[in-house]
Amino acid sequence: MFHSLLKFATVTCLALSANAARYPSFGTLQTTNSSGVLNVAINNTFSPINLFDFHVAADLANLIETLQANDTDIRVVVFSSGNKDFFIAHFDINFVLPGYGACFVSLLWNITQLPQATIAAIEGRARGIGNEFIMACDMRFATTAPSVLLGQIETSLGVIPGAGGGLYLAHEIGRGRALEYVLSAQDIDGATAERIGWINRAFPTSSALADYVQTLAARIALFPPAGIAAAKKEVDAVGRPSKELFIRKSQDVFDVLVGTPAAQELEEKLIALTHNQSIGPLELSYGTEVFELYK
Ligand SMILES: *[C@@H]1O[C@H](CO)[C@@H](O)[C@H](O)[C@H]1NC(C)=O
Ligand SMILES: *[C@@H]1O[C@H](CO)[C@@H](O)[C@H](O)[C@H]1NC(C)=O
Ligand SMILES: *[C@@H]1O[C@H](CO)[C@@H](O)[C@H](O)[C@H]1NC(C)=O
Ligand SMILES: *[C@@H]1O[C@H](CO)[C@@H](O)[C@H](O)[C@H]1NC(C)=O
Ligand SMILES: *[C@@H]1O[C@H](CO)[C@@H](O)[C@H](O)[C@H]1NC(C)=O
Repeated sequence: MFHSLLKFATVTCLALSANAARYPSFGTLQTTNSSGVLNVAINNTFSPINLFDFHVAADLANLIETLQANDTDIRVVVFSSGNKDFFIAHFDINFVLPGYGACFVSLLWNITQLPQATIAAIEGRARGIGNEFIMACDMRFATTAPSVLLGQIETSLGVIPGAGGGLYLAHEIGRGRALEYVLSAQDIDGATAERIGWINRAFPTSSALADYVQTLAARIALFPPAGIAAAKKEVDAVGRPSKELFIRKSQDVFDVLVGTPAAQELEEKLIALTHNQSIGPLELSYGTEVFELYK
């Protein structure tokens, strides 16, 4: 199954950023823009669990390409989700294949390098590349709702977080805690994530989250863009892993592990147990349901 998809996946990956930017509509990304703040709602209508698949990746590549051109009109980008149960469930497991991880790593690396300030306003689950996506943003805010569950689930699938999840977490929450979560594939809730520094803050309600994030974004967007971009670079000099580490890690380690029989078997089992990534116990409560994969 996986080998038959390999060619298609490679080709599609190369085409990720080939389309001309389709501002302000990016298909799976709904955007609104006012006073220097671009709000982007991730709403993958091809997936009930807001999967990070090729639709989302291609739309994000287009959006990022536009933002990379130093559009000084936009100074802050706020990412939220059109699916209140899933911010981004995880990567589409049908396409976890050797040889093209670098493409998604490049996409997330590009988010870290944007001149605009980036904020994730998180409602719902963000696991695997979903968590790596929020970590690639400059700031993370969430709610304390039970639907907010973050996690790096890759070790339980025989691979590693391939787009910097371990690197980001080691930096934000420290080595011991990063390993606690990365090795166990446990979920973390909003309140605990706030307490240990995985996210900036967790709010009791959606509206409190939205109010805080929009006020913060509007405030930052008043300031000159050159200063925003330069301040990010200064913080990142000690606050982000280097590009070499970030990219090489994915290519060398992730791609080797993905090709192992253990990983392929676990991925096929996940597809079967979730009925091809539909809403169900495993997608809703991966942290407690992961044992189903090992029965
Ligand atoms: C943002 O909106 C302004 C008008 O309010 C428009 O001129 C500009 O092109 C928009 N920018 C983007 C990136 O959508
Ligand atoms: C945008 O600004 C950054 C500095 O923040 C610079 O490195 C980059 O070359 C600029 N890109 C374009 C397309 O002008
Ligand atoms: C997301 O897409 C669905 C299906 O098209 C739509 O019903 C829903 O209103 C969208 N949500 C948001 C927040 O745009
Ligand atoms: C990331 O940005 C670079 C330009 O800095 C571009 O060449 C590359 O295609 C982008 N990656 C993706 C996956 O869009
Ligand atoms: C599962 O869903 C993917 C899209 O995510 C699709 O490409 C694939 O054909 C589906 N597989 C099955 C067995 O239905």
